Amino acid sequence: MARYLLRSTLRSCIRGGVALSVAALFAHGAQAQDAPADTRIDHGRYLAIAGDCVACHTAPGGKPFAGGLDLNTPFGTITASNITSDTASGIGSWSLQQFDAAVRHGKGPNGHLYPAMPYTAYAKMTDADLADLWAYIRTIPPVSQKVVENKLPFPYNIRSAMIVWNALFFDSTPFRPDSAKSDAVNRGAYLVEALAHCGICHTPKNALGGDSAATYQGTSLQGWHAPDLTNNDHTGLGKWSAEDIVTYLRSGTNRYTASSGSMTEVIVNSTQHLTDADLHAIAAYFKALPARTVEAPPPLPANNAQVEAGRREFVVQCSACHTSSGQGVTNMIPSLQSNPAINARSPDSLLNILLAGTTGPATAANPTGAAMPGFAWKLQDDQIADVLTYIRNSQGNAAAAVSAADVAKARKALGAQQVVWH
Ligand code: HEC
Ligand code: HEC
Ligand code: HEC
Repeated sequence: MARYLLRSTLRSCIRGGVALSVAALFAHGAQAQDAPADTRIDHGRYLAIAGDCVACHTAPGGKPFAGGLDLNTPFGTITASNITSDTASGIGSWSLQQFDAAVRHGKGPNGHLYPAMPYTAYAKMTDADLADLWAYIRTIPPVSQKVVENKLPFPYNIRSAMIVWNALFFDSTPFRPDSAKSDAVNRGAYLVEALAHCGICHTPKNALGGDSAATYQGTSLQGWHAPDLTNNDHTGLGKWSAEDIVTYLRSGTNRYTASSGSMTEVIVNSTQHLTDADLHAIAAYFKALPARTVEAPPPLPANNAQVEAGRREFVVQCSACHTSSGQGVTNMIPSLQSNPAINARSPDSLLNILLAGTTGPATAANPTGAAMPGFAWKLQDDQIADVLTYIRNSQGNAAAAVSAADVAKARKALGAQQVVWH
């Protein structure tokens, strides 16, 4: 159950759009400036950005942190809480101890929280950071908005079921730096494991929704595949330099790829605002990870029927933008060559991009995020399957073929339209 809960929660986080106005987020800065202990509040605001609290705690079009984002699951709905300083509907009357209980221990006033709230990561936060985060959260202007968090039907509504889940999967030991590693790697580990919770999307889950041992090896969250972040050369970040990772997290694009889907939200709301030193620390942490031990398969031969048909489709539909070699145009059209997102074992993200199109993030570093149109209206299931099989087996890529049935399934799941072109 928990696996579905968590996955669909994320899906709805993604679907919810979580269109945060970063301007609105920073507008609180003006308020905070009047308050004492400015530096602690500023540091707390930075931690809230690194922890991306606003992504879940803001309803589409709603006031930041006022909650109300519905996280739909097959069992019912969990809604993210109002964490503004409103005393009646928010957490304005809470003490630091109550905030700590919720954020680092998963215990709210009504009992155990569901792990849709990433207390499993935040548990690693230091006492000083938790206190600074609270100092900032308290400055968020009150918004009166009553949220009923738990609308799950019986028996999933029983919060004490999480006692068992926590006993199995919740490691509440605080973060401990590893003296054998550099300061940068330790800082990166802290940022990623205690705050940014990258693993919530990139680490495969076991049957009960706990993290599997395949840390950061990539997994699908209904409709998207969050790729391998280990140093595997083919499916992961093995060929990326630390600087490539920094550029991607700051701007949403680099010489290998451009972000889409929920990753775009992560970059827009969170990573683009991190300091240069912290982005380099995150990159150092990922570059120090062992590679996923899976060899690249041989590509399908160029005379494979699907690869041939896909190449013809590519020339007609795609090469005007992506160029016939797949190299693209720097900072505008991402390269498709030796692209780990294309080599991913699951084609979920590619199906999503081809059917629905994609818009890259508009970041301070790259203000005009480029866009690609969707092809659902124009290409039949077998044409999309062929063109994806072609890009997965040319231009330095190699991965399993995509079938027309895969495309039909994705078309249905995404609610994408049927072909109207002929
Ligand atoms: C991935 C989504 C997600 C993120 C990110 C997230 N939260 Fe939550 N949070 C939730 C959900 C969902 C709940 C309600 C859980 C429940 O009712 O069991 C919640 C509950 C809470 C509560 C308890 C509120 C109450 O009234 O019981 C607090 C406090 C809180 N979150 C603070 C934070 C802070 C601070 C951050 C950032 C450091 C954060 N959250 C990030 C999803 C999220
Ligand atoms: C809410 C889910 C989510 C979270 C949290 C998340 N990611 Fe992602 N990430 C994705 C998805 C989905 C993709 C694939 C989208 C695409 O192809 O652009 C992705 C893509 C990436 C890529 C590109 C990989 C490639 O091969 O193209 C990198 C690098 C990355 N994420 C790093 C991170 C880091 C570092 C963090 C934590 C700071 C993080 N992600 C947090 C969902 C997430
Ligand atoms: C009008 C120009 C245009 C056309 C036509 C186009 N693309 Fe794209 N494509 C883009 C842009 C721009 C992006 C990056 C969008 C972003 O930043 O999210 C992109 C992204 C992609 C990605 C994701 C790359 C990554 O690193 O995650 C794939 C895969 C892709 N395109 C394949 C195709 C295929 C296959 C076709 C033909 C069926 C096609 N594109 C047609 C402009 C185009």
